[in-house]
Amino acid sequence: MKTQVAIIGAGPSGLLLGQLLHNAGISNVILERQTPDYVLGRIRAGVLEQGMVELLRKAGVHQRMDREGLVHTGVELAVRGRRVHIDLHGLTGGKTVMIYGQTEVTRDLMQAREAAGALTVYGAANVEPQGMKSDAPWLTYEKDGELQRLDCDYIAGCDGFHGIARQAIPAEVLQTFERVYPFGWLGILADTPPVNEELVYASHERGFALCSMRSATRTRYYVQVDADEKVENWSDQRFWDELKSRLPADLAERMVTGPSIEKSIAPLRSFVVEPMQYGRMFLVGDAAHIVPPTGAKGLNLAASDVSTLFDILLKVYREGRTDLLEQYSPICLRRVWKAERFSWWMTSMLHRFPDADPFSQRIQQTELDYFVDSQAGRQTIAENYVGLPYEKVQ
Ligand code: APR
Ligand code: PHB
Repeated sequence: MKTQVAIIGAGPSGLLLGQLLHNAGISNVILERQTPDYVLGRIRAGVLEQGMVELLRKAGVHQRMDREGLVHTGVELAVRGRRVHIDLHGLTGGKTVMIYGQTEVTRDLMQAREAAGALTVYGAANVEPQGMKSDAPWLTYEKDGELQRLDCDYIAGCDGFHGIARQAIPAEVLQTFERVYPFGWLGILADTPPVNEELVYASHERGFALCSMRSATRTRYYVQVDADEKVENWSDQRFWDELKSRLPADLAERMVTGPSIEKSIAPLRSFVVEPMQYGRMFLVGDAAHIVPPTGAKGLNLAASDVSTLFDILLKVYREGRTDLLEQYSPICLRRVWKAERFSWWMTSMLHRFPDADPFSQRIQQTELDYFVDSQAGRQTIAENYVGLPYEKVQ
């Protein structure tokens, strides 16, 4: 089999890149290890920056998002019981975010790909990128026990943090940067009305908590837990009690509780690999970088990588601009590092660190007080939260 762009991974990165390329008449095939149901079964992020919303519109997969997504013009921080409103719209010259789950984005992209008749090979085992440094790279994989080969011009490694693409690059070529945090997030999904119209990020001496949502009838709430905590130790009742204990009294009082539909613990990690290119293979999204979820940046960074790679490939195929291929990694990394910094900073400012000495605790409290009490501080949070601009490819 032969295609122009071979994509590894049918998560949001791979599907969005595939859709943009397909619409532009550039052929592509996606190889995905799992089944569609497995991919859709993962509960992930839910806040889309305006840049990502516009990219989904450009890809033509916006109809349901525009109908069902919730536009949020602000976000709240709860600081030791005090509620502070961050006016995203007012502080950024009119920008907003869209609340629409990653699962729904993925579902819409899968349907659009099916309707377009573009090929996704699900259940592709032992995918291996080959010849990345040559002019004619290819992938080998196994499907139903048979070895297959996919020839291509370029490979997009959209296969997430545990994928093969990054691992297929010789270790001496890559530099990795990493931080693991001494806590995780215990999250639940429940069919209950959101406690507040806007998301609430709460800093509390018992630990961080976040009140998010998927719709007017479905909530996604999180509490900070120890890194080695087990989900079996958390009954629904214990979760609700702990969440309420970390929120301002008025929010805790009006919290509607209910049975959880999903409950899981996610570790928090910052990770970046440089460069994001090896010959004719490009790393996209979680394959190249991970952020802790506190800034809601993971999915949005995947989208900006996709946008950059798509713009470059379009110019390569339409105008012969192969000189731009070397620009992919530097353009992406400039934005990636800014989002890494924001995610690390929000995480550092809002969580309880088990080993923090009294001086560090006071500095942490003061930093948060300073930022929420100052217009400049709130503006800094807002500017980053709605998403920094995409760099133009030229
Ligand atoms: N071969 C084929 N497919 C693979 C392989 C492999 N060796 N390894 C992983 N995959 C698939 C996974 O099954 C998954 O469907 O690649 C896909 C990667 O998807 P994600 O992990 O969702 O990564 P990405 O598409 O970059 O999405 C952006 O940002 O912060 C996060 O929550 C956010 O998951 C989202 C991500
Ligand atoms: C979510 O809704 O899952 C969510 C929202 C905001 C975050 C992280 C996760 O910062």
